Amino acid sequence: MSISRRDFVQTSALAAGALATVGYQKSARAADKQSVLRVAVIGVNSRGLEHIDCYLRNKNVEITTICDTDTEVGMKKGVKRVEEKSGKAPKFVQDLREVFADPNIDVVSIATPNHWHSLATIWAAQAGKAIYCEKPVSHNIAEGRRAVQAIEKYKVICQCGTQSRSHKAMQDAVAYIKSGKLGEVKLARGLCYKPRKGIGPAGTYEYPKSVDVNIWTGPAEMTELTRPKFHYDWHWQWNCGNGDSGNQGIHQMDIARWGLGVNDIAQTIVSFGKRYAWDDAGTTPNTQIEDFQFADGKRILFETRNLESDKYHDVGIGNIFYGTEGVIAMDSNYGKAALYDKDWKKVQEFKGGGMQDHVDNFVEAVIKNDSSLLNCPFVEGHLSSALCHTGNISYQLAKSASVDDIRSAGMGDAEWNDSLDRMLTHLKGHNVDVAGNPMHLGPKLTFDSKSELFTGTQAADANQYVARKGRGEFIIPEVADL
Ligand SMILES: NC(=O)c1ccc[n+]([C@@H]2O[C@H](COP(=O)([O-])OP(=O)(O)OC[C@H]3O[C@@H](n4cnc5c(N)ncnc54)[C@H](O)[C@@H]3O)[C@@H](O)[C@H]2O)c1
Repeated sequence: MSISRRDFVQTSALAAGALATVGYQKSARAADKQSVLRVAVIGVNSRGLEHIDCYLRNKNVEITTICDTDTEVGMKKGVKRVEEKSGKAPKFVQDLREVFADPNIDVVSIATPNHWHSLATIWAAQAGKAIYCEKPVSHNIAEGRRAVQAIEKYKVICQCGTQSRSHKAMQDAVAYIKSGKLGEVKLARGLCYKPRKGIGPAGTYEYPKSVDVNIWTGPAEMTELTRPKFHYDWHWQWNCGNGDSGNQGIHQMDIARWGLGVNDIAQTIVSFGKRYAWDDAGTTPNTQIEDFQFADGKRILFETRNLESDKYHDVGIGNIFYGTEGVIAMDSNYGKAALYDKDWKKVQEFKGGGMQDHVDNFVEAVIKNDSSLLNCPFVEGHLSSALCHTGNISYQLAKSASVDDIRSAGMGDAEWNDSLDRMLTHLKGHNVDVAGNPMHLGPKLTFDSKSELFTGTQAADANQYVARKGRGEFIIPEVADL
């Protein structure tokens, strides 16, 4: 279906009007407690289909509505999937504001691109819906905090889609760390060694005709399409994506924070790396190190590698927690972790869990109307997402630097040098000439977790990346306007 600009402006205005008229009418569930939960899944190209599958396996749920800005995707993927699996076709809407204005919907499940997560959560909270929001829960730090405030104000149940929090293997491994048996744990490594490919040349491409570009772009900047593939590859352009640190990496960032027991955003942050080997439309780094130090002396060292890489101590996508009494390492898919002694001899394994557990945990919390049951309340997602954003802000402020400059920035720290040396070996294996094509080194930023703003000499530059106002009908509300 082709939609002209005038058509979608009219549709959007209508939907916005509907929302205003309804006055954020609460979900009808309160008056209808015996029925199953009525769910709308928003964004169904890929991840949303997994949401659909999980809800359909839960007998307390019915998917009544599918929403997608792309009518082709919405009908041919989302609606089709629900109809095939449940025997009943859900309603389709293209404008998510119609979902929030519908009092017959109890739950919204958000699997749109990152730049929509916080605003969709805010609108859903204002409409009294329970919310499952994919990770990262924000595209920038300030909108994530605003969504936390909306959830608190409207007292809605909201789960962040970092499903590892519901995997038994991760829960048991983290419980082991928290029991003290691993000794003192000050350092967690996060590894995102996820091989990817370039996304094709930068240029001017046509948006698919089936997409409402105005709504898809939402609070982001309206731009021409500069990448060949419209869906998914927005991850690698800053306007809508957060690179792999804020894509796959947010899972490992969250597990690192959870295992270390840090409940704030780092006090100092520095990042370096580059987008190497691909001459493409992407702007986010494919090789990156982020070093986060916390007020209590704890530290997360995060490595992203999108060029093929060997694992590090059996971990490719995962975490390593270093305790004075041993090590815990977790590899891909969150269903597996292992305890090692100080000589890296395996002593114990932790196993089990899946995505279904996370959705079931959310549904249970909604039915019991008890947010304390949630395995990953939105605020945890906010802190972990914000961590990724701070690392990316250091990277975005980076300047070209020689290897010697980068080594000096670590001031002799052994872990810094080790991470740098392993990165250099990795790049050499891909014939990257780091001397001729220097990396980018960001400034060491200082951050205040109370105000969620940068402080110090770089504050003015760094704070420009903390918030984005939004655009047109898609403005992130101020606290007073929530
Ligand atoms: N938890 C996980 O393990 C996991 C795994 C994969 C993806 N994700 C997250 O899920 C999200 C979606 O990922 P994807 O790979 O499916 O992306 P995608 O780009 O392939 O699909 C996103 C879909 O959302 C639609 N959309 C965009 N804006 C919308 C709006 N305002 N209203 C309705 N629909 C809208 C698009 O048209 C598209 O069909 C991402 O944020 C990603 O980080 C999480």
